[in-house]
Amino acid sequence: MIQFDEQKQIFHLKNNSFSYVIEIARGKYLLHRYWGKALREYRDAAALPAIDRAFSPQPAAYENERTFSLDVLPQEYSGYGHGDFRIPAYKIALADGTEVTEFLYRSHRIFKGKPPLKGLPASYASGQEAMSLEIELADAHAGLKLYLLYTVFEKSAVLVRSARIINESGSAVCLRQLASLSLDFGSHEFERISLYGGHASERMIERSPLHRGIEIIASSRGASSHQHSPFLALVEPAANEAVGDVYGFSLVYSGNFSMETEVEQFGTTRVCVGINPQGFSWLLEPGEDFQSPEAVMVYSAEGLNGMSQTYHAFYREHLLRGKYQNALRPILVNNWEATYFDFDEEKIDAIAKTAAELGMELLVLDDGWFGKRNDDNSSLGDWIVDQKKLPQGLTALGEKVHAHGLQFGLWFEPEMVSVDSELYRKHPEWALQVPGYKTSFGRHQLVLDLSRQDVCDYIVDAVVKVLESAPIDYVKWDMNRHMTEVGSTLLSAKRQGETAHRYMLGLYDVLERITQKFPDILFESCSGGGGRFDAGMLYYMPQTWTSDNTDAICRLKIQYGTSLVFPPITMGAHVSVTPNHQVGRLTPMQTRAFAAMGGDFGYELDICQLTDAEKTAVKKHIKLYKRLRPTLQLGTFRRLLSPFNGGETAWMFTHPDKSQVVVFYFKELAQPAPSVRVLKLAGLDKDARYKVAEYYEPERLSHDFGGEKASGITGLEFYGDELMFSGLAVEHVDADFISYMWVLEKQI
Ligand code: DGJ
Repeated sequence: MIQFDEQKQIFHLKNNSFSYVIEIARGKYLLHRYWGKALREYRDAAALPAIDRAFSPQPAAYENERTFSLDVLPQEYSGYGHGDFRIPAYKIALADGTEVTEFLYRSHRIFKGKPPLKGLPASYASGQEAMSLEIELADAHAGLKLYLLYTVFEKSAVLVRSARIINESGSAVCLRQLASLSLDFGSHEFERISLYGGHASERMIERSPLHRGIEIIASSRGASSHQHSPFLALVEPAANEAVGDVYGFSLVYSGNFSMETEVEQFGTTRVCVGINPQGFSWLLEPGEDFQSPEAVMVYSAEGLNGMSQTYHAFYREHLLRGKYQNALRPILVNNWEATYFDFDEEKIDAIAKTAAELGMELLVLDDGWFGKRNDDNSSLGDWIVDQKKLPQGLTALGEKVHAHGLQFGLWFEPEMVSVDSELYRKHPEWALQVPGYKTSFGRHQLVLDLSRQDVCDYIVDAVVKVLESAPIDYVKWDMNRHMTEVGSTLLSAKRQGETAHRYMLGLYDVLERITQKFPDILFESCSGGGGRFDAGMLYYMPQTWTSDNTDAICRLKIQYGTSLVFPPITMGAHVSVTPNHQVGRLTPMQTRAFAAMGGDFGYELDICQLTDAEKTAVKKHIKLYKRLRPTLQLGTFRRLLSPFNGGETAWMFTHPDKSQVVVFYFKELAQPAPSVRVLKLAGLDKDARYKVAEYYEPERLSHDFGGEKASGITGLEFYGDELMFSGLAVEHVDADFISYMWVLEKQI
């Protein structure tokens, strides 16, 4: 609900979980007054102190009020050039070359529902589920209007924000920055949590003190990136997974972003989130507008798990779309780590046949099916089947795969072009490029210029043609290099700085057209694994290949970090061969399977080479996963033990109707003097009895595969309070890389 107190000039945005308060000071300045636990009413008990701060200037109209300075007041959307020296939320160069502007409150409207954002992915809601506030600000001198949009959802501790600017003046201006949000916290008693990484090592958790000065996480790679995720949390120092105040920021955008914090002289903290100003500028001609991406802000009083559960539910209910939004995802087998580029129809058919025997549901044909692509040197852009590898074409292959009772999926990398391709020979001007400089390569490929309409149309046509030509049920949409020499052959000199964002708008348009045309196809996004695992891509494609690293032990960290923001149903997770192709590690089959069950479960190895014992284990794991799938994919996910704090990981899933609970525990290395591990479960009904319906003790590398063994605990019943407060003991086993699973059934 959104209230406006006319007399106090205060907006109170609230639901049962949080309150967010904005004040209009002096009829024109927007001040941030509160964000946190829900308040019944905001009466300003924490009134702003009036202190004369030296070197903090007064706006011209308040020359004699030395306690009034924009430098000191908590701003709701920070300005530039009028005495607030902290980081600005926007920067605009006017026609006369100056960069000082001043947006003051003009009006507002409060309405039901949530409008879409032009050209951008964004959360959605019905009129019953959400209320929005749009605040209009204006710079009368510059002839510019700024609209800040806020939406409160009735059942979620989420506030979404974005900003839009319109040029109503008679001359062009140049937008250098337009943040999706900025706000000021009254203190800096926080720690920061961000997700850093690299290829094959995405979304590692970093928790550090919040330092004085400016700290930034950002991407300028043309993708949200493996290196930093568009996510930041500020948490009270005592906060952990279960308790404490947590403020989360996630951006619904897949390109260059920045998330900045500034702790300033008086100890307050500014947060500013949006498109990365580095490498961005946008010419706004008279009458034109610019829309920022959307930021999703979560307040949790229940620690990091509370924040993650809010993000998970919100993204599942208000961001994912289409047939697969709430549908169970198929168990797939992908041929990439099985064959790489070296396959033919016979091999794929053999994999499909084995996959069907083992109980898998979808065969994905990865890179190498088109052009003459026998390695990564050529053919991107030429989306025409390679008759040498697949003489009967994709249609026949798809039909064969279907005849085995499997769905058929296909890999594409539509945003790229190989120099050795028909497409590049015909259209060298379609690659991103800057005159006078040779274009850098990444994986021997160039990036197509999706800021161009003709390029976008080509991609849509090429992909649609293939999808219409064969029985395809699933698409993996890959993107395997970052952008360099970012310039467009079509844009005017003044608009070159728009290329990277126009690329994203082009990509979003392409994705919208293709996914809407094929509503029955399951789309999975990918960028060398999880290099573009962000809320923007999830709006179009409801799952993402989490990482090219398929090692189960590395995956525990990657999936744990990813789960801070994204639900398991969005994370592709596959069992691969040992020794693992990325790190060479040997891990038991059960551990590989249990780790992959933490996401959308699948296989990525040559299943034709499995021994009989391995096949038995795989069949068993698939059967088990199918049985538990509703809980694992649609249930509530909770982290219990962090792999970042030592060699142990535990997490649990609770069925949406709370009838079933599945708990996983993983241990990396055996210890000579091991501690006793007790898992304190969470989110149970404390008065209900839970029966240990199934228990899977660890499989050692040297053991037979598969081993569910009867244990003393199977069949026993415990009350929820005991399982949560006293805990469930983990039987000690001396072995490396082991895993356990308990399935608990709530007794009625
Ligand atoms: C990178 C992806 O992450 C892999 O899974 C695979 O599809 C390769 N690209 C294929 O080139």
